[in-house]
Amino acid sequence: MDINSKKKLVNGIEIPVLGFGVYLSPEGEVTASSVRWAVESGYRHIDAAAIYGNERSVGEGIRTCGLPREQLFITSKLWNDDIRKGRCKEAFTETLNRLGTDYLDLYLIHWPVDQHVQAWKVLEQLYETGKVRAIGVSNYHSQHLKELEDMARIMPMVNQFEIHPYLSQQPLIDLCKRYGMVYEAYSPLGGQNGPVLSDPVIVDIAAARGKSPAQIVLRWHLQRGTVVLPKSNHLERIRANAQLFDFRLTQEEMARLDALNQNLRTGGNPDCFDF
Ligand code: A2P
Repeated sequence: MDINSKKKLVNGIEIPVLGFGVYLSPEGEVTASSVRWAVESGYRHIDAAAIYGNERSVGEGIRTCGLPREQLFITSKLWNDDIRKGRCKEAFTETLNRLGTDYLDLYLIHWPVDQHVQAWKVLEQLYETGKVRAIGVSNYHSQHLKELEDMARIMPMVNQFEIHPYLSQQPLIDLCKRYGMVYEAYSPLGGQNGPVLSDPVIVDIAAARGKSPAQIVLRWHLQRGTVVLPKSNHLERIRANAQLFDFRLTQEEMARLDALNQNLRTGGNPDCFDF
């Protein structure tokens, strides 16, 4: 595994295992420079969403990073209100315009709102037009996937949900594997001001390895087969979060990290959310 490693989706499209997260990255120069720093540091995958409110700045970063568009893997997500209002196609076009691109590599339904099955039919159509190379979902539990199964011609190729050592999500990961879906971790470091990076076991493994707690956590994700999407607006952290390929955690270290699970969610719960 190296910084260019990719996973194959069921349709053959390849997704880089390391992606750059931009949730809570503010619209403006901070986000545009963060995206450029990420690309300079070797990231080739950017995970955006309409609701993050920063697609224009992400687009600015992409346009000024010095790489042709085809060398980047760009994801965005369809927001709940657009699904509820039945304006999925319009929202997709707005996302393309804000990002300044004429296609996406991956488009996800952000949350399984009541009308998500109708929205999925629209994503299938977008996929068939070729404007998006792969389609998937985010925050889907088994019942949401079952709801799609009855109606879908194409099943989601990706499921993105909250995963970190305090919420290891082994059952949902196993379910994704059974469906042949690539699983992606959001809040891979435990989110903003989360407790994960100061956990004594993680700090201990980091000190013994001469790595940072964030590098240990991200490496744990990669060795579980997870696509990781760490966010930062700091150059040093952006760089360090990509330096994950010159060491390997032992089985014992992996087991110590696996044992930290406490089903602790920092974000919304897909079984009961009100937004
Ligand atoms: P910042 O953007 O100020 O660097 P997640 O990816 O789990 O959502 O976590 C991101 C949070 O962790 C952000 O608040 C980010 O803040 C912070 N962060 C990112 N990388 C590191 C790192 N290497 N060490 C400590 N904190 C980090």
